[in-house]
Amino acid sequence: MNDENPDDGRQTSLFADADVPRRVLIKEQRRDEVVDPTAGTPRKGRRKARSAPDGNGDAGGADDASAESPATRPRKPAARGKTKAHELAEKQREISVSEFFAKNRHLLGFDSKRKALLTTVKEAVDNALDACEEAEILPDVTVRIEPVPKVEDRFRVIVGDNGPGIVPEQIDNVFARLLYGSKFHRLRQSRGQQGIGISAAGMYGQMTTGAPTIIKSRIGKGHDALDVALRIDTSKNMPVKPRPPKVFEWDREHGTEVTIELEAEFRRGKGSVDDYLGQVAIANPHVQMTYWPPDLAPGAPPTVYERATKSLPVQAREIQPHPHGVELGFLMKMMKDTESTRLAAFLHADFSRVSTRVARDICAKARLDPAARVKSLGHEAAEALYKAINDTKLMAPPTDCVSPIGEDLIRKGLQKEIGEADFFVSRTRAPAVYRGNPFQIEVGCALGGSLPADEPVRLMRFANRVPLLYQGGGCAITKALLDVDWRSYGLSQPKDSMPVGPVIFMVHVASAWVPFTSESKEAVASYLEILKEIKLALQECGRQMQIHLRRRARIEDELKKRGYIDKYIPHIGEALQEMLGLKEPEKEQVVSKLRETLEKSRKLG
Ligand SMILES: Nc1ncnc2c1ncn2[C@@H]1O[C@H](COP(=O)(O)OP(=O)(O)OP(=O)(O)O)[C@@H](O)[C@H]1O
Ligand SMILES: [Mg+2]
Repeated sequence: MNDENPDDGRQTSLFADADVPRRVLIKEQRRDEVVDPTAGTPRKGRRKARSAPDGNGDAGGADDASAESPATRPRKPAARGKTKAHELAEKQREISVSEFFAKNRHLLGFDSKRKALLTTVKEAVDNALDACEEAEILPDVTVRIEPVPKVEDRFRVIVGDNGPGIVPEQIDNVFARLLYGSKFHRLRQSRGQQGIGISAAGMYGQMTTGAPTIIKSRIGKGHDALDVALRIDTSKNMPVKPRPPKVFEWDREHGTEVTIELEAEFRRGKGSVDDYLGQVAIANPHVQMTYWPPDLAPGAPPTVYERATKSLPVQAREIQPHPHGVELGFLMKMMKDTESTRLAAFLHADFSRVSTRVARDICAKARLDPAARVKSLGHEAAEALYKAINDTKLMAPPTDCVSPIGEDLIRKGLQKEIGEADFFVSRTRAPAVYRGNPFQIEVGCALGGSLPADEPVRLMRFANRVPLLYQGGGCAITKALLDVDWRSYGLSQPKDSMPVGPVIFMVHVASAWVPFTSESKEAVASYLEILKEIKLALQECGRQMQIHLRRRARIEDELKKRGYIDKYIPHIGEALQEMLGLKEPEKEQVVSKLRETLEKSRKLG
């Protein structure tokens, strides 16, 4: 995925980020079917092919010059023995997606023991919140991190929710199969989008401790609560059950609890589990979380993040892809996979913002029959259709597939979690579009109070309500913040650096598809449209901040001057008394007159 904006005016795929599985080399050749590049015949049947007089092999060197030009005729092998290419060909084999990510665990956020703990908690909590919201349940999430006795750097992470639970037939695939999930194929804001998160956490646990993932789940009254243990067979990317599932008594009517044992390190501070949960509470004021850290003294109460509102966020609606965000290859795939029969119906049903009239217009521009069978159309027709789509003016995509936090709740969230500040502003921008994908930017800002005035500001980044704690440098949010000239808003700012001042910024990117820079979902890619919207939102907050800072500076200045009056006027009174021989009441009168005049002129009265 590009870090820089690749948008050069050409349409790119809504699903370009679906590159994840495509990166994995998949060869379908079996060893015994390796194609001989010199003979043009499978090696297994080479001898036979050589003697075949059909010209496909190199039988007896009988060149059929009339049938093939020298340029297209397969060449004779240089030598009869194995070539280097044969040797290399023998090493080709399929790589399962689990093997790939097991080897490249850093791509998924498991590059250190400390980060592994955070990523595991994060994947489980994100899923819990997604599931609750989808089922319209106010989330009540528990996070417990227990040290495994007598083993250094080993912990058990247990995350529970009061969500809808998972149907028994799907538990195995959800927790022990990479690239399996309900969110990848839809266009709608959610925390998860790739179908990798929780199974990758389980796989990391399995690789570092050998322990299986344990899932408890119940889908409602009248249904059994199940306790399932799972491992991943990494060479097949398939679930394996080390023991049969158990039915057990659960006081919870519905919900899920996942336990992962893993090698990890627990440390507080920036980028820690504590940091993450605190930030989740800011961006998700409707969530209640209870947290038992591993170093909690016996009998000590857990940390509770109380919810600030009982209203669930407005449900984001699933939309169809916008035609202007779709590449030719993807259009061809859609034409192949569609359930519609006729071309015009396909355009209307499978895309957003294509009415039946617009569908007919597109067909006319492409010189295609609206009643043509979509699946019978070839490459040329698809090209014509693609061109016609991009030559047609269309409404921007619908934006109800994103659900912002809202200005009020951002302020509430900040006030709740950042008690040391004394001024809060927030701004939610109108939705905008990048590469056919709707997105919306929100900025909150906590200022003043006892926040340190001589340190760089703190920036909290969020994507679809999830705190992003790593790779800040490569993130569009940081870039946009650095791009604002903060000196004009009353903060000092060393060149190319974070501004300095008593401020905490939070920036939220909400989108039906967040363009992350990698599978670990830690930084947002720098699309021009996204950068621009973030910058505008920050500047709007900056102006509010500046008004507040100016007012505060004026008050401070006046208070300082009042201090001078209090300090020096009595001395002036005494000096006048001595010089003019005033009596005590006369001196008092002069002092009070002086004070009154000064306060009036400074408007302090
Ligand atoms: N606690 C849960 N309750 C209900 N369903 C869940 C829960 N956890 C996971 N799921 C289901 O399992 C699927 C796979 O989860 P996973 O975290 O692997 O992928 P994802 O959330 O879809 O995407 P991402 O990889 O970006 O996290 C989810 O799409 C969801 O349907
Ligand atoms: Mg997930």
